[in-house]
Amino acid sequence: MSILLTGGVGFIGSHTAVELMNQGIDVVIADNLSNSEASAIDGIEQITGRRPVFYPIDVADPELLDDLFCEQSIDGVIHFAGYKSVGESVAKPLQYYRNNLDTTLTLLETMQKHKVKTLIFSSSATVYSACEQVPFTEESQPLGCSNPYGWTKYMIEQILKDLCVSDADLSVVLLRYFNPVGAHASGLIGEKPSGIPNNLMPYITQVASGILPKLHVFGDDYPTPDGTGIRDYIHVVDLAKGHVAALAYADRHQGCEVFNLGTGKGYSVLDVVRAFEQANDLSIPYEIAPRRAGDIAVCYANTQKAEAVLGWKAEKSLAEMCRDSWRWQKSQERE
Ligand code: UD1
Repeated sequence: MSILLTGGVGFIGSHTAVELMNQGIDVVIADNLSNSEASAIDGIEQITGRRPVFYPIDVADPELLDDLFCEQSIDGVIHFAGYKSVGESVAKPLQYYRNNLDTTLTLLETMQKHKVKTLIFSSSATVYSACEQVPFTEESQPLGCSNPYGWTKYMIEQILKDLCVSDADLSVVLLRYFNPVGAHASGLIGEKPSGIPNNLMPYITQVASGILPKLHVFGDDYPTPDGTGIRDYIHVVDLAKGHVAALAYADRHQGCEVFNLGTGKGYSVLDVVRAFEQANDLSIPYEIAPRRAGDIAVCYANTQKAEAVLGWKAEKSLAEMCRDSWRWQKSQERE
């Protein structure tokens, strides 16, 4: 079986490539390297002993994507390619709508032409940001998003649902990720944020290594036990294994199904700081700062559907997430 990973050089894509290849599945990657580095392909090869086929192309280019589908025998697609920075999407909404929607529409048209019927889509818990009841279940009706990045995920989910109504042979799985962190235990692949990180874990690792002086904790007056925001952090290797399970499910079923990929456990910002300090035996200076616009107090998953239907469950602890994130950061500094 041969699976195309759009955006397969990125953080979640590269870890998913490893897990698929570990299962004996052939991987073809299409990635324009707009927010990733080709060195991740060397990392995948070092870990698995095999090199994925790589097309350095923009998936929004219909001709180049068509060439790929003509040259490779693709059985299914996992669609990661897309812009993902919340703040940037607020500043440049047109770029986000153009890129994320164009990429998806070109991919879907090309899949239709080549009669490829299986698609796994990288969605996000951000579609729940206007919902009130935690934990979020797949039935929690997304009510809208707080930023254009989130809206692109929301809109693509809708496009895929409509497409499945039009073609009963399609098998589409929407995966709503919670907060992916950590890195492969080998230290060979991980997250490479460009510039100052927006997300908590890469910010903490850069404070730990002295690149940034201290962490700003965005708000300590939320209605949570210690006043700081609660999120569902999931190890990227667990998340990658969720894609392997989703692909096996898609092989057996038709239609459009949505699954949360989280751990079901919520940790506050200060919980993460303490866990990181303990796991790595160092200290993280921080100060309390104002709330960040668009943040919600609490976000964590109900994971029952993924467990029952996909037979998948996240296994790695917060301590492992902290250890692996730090190992990866240190390996970057040695380069
Ligand atoms: C963010 C995105 C979400 C995206 C996800 C990917 C926003 C509003 N949402 O989620 O759409 O899918 O990343 O991982 O950006 N925090 C600090 N100090 C920091 C950074 C973060 O206190 O320097 C806090 C935040 O206020 C939040 C928690 O840490 O309570 C997690 O933040 P972050 O890692 O940015 O993820 P989300 O905001 O949950």
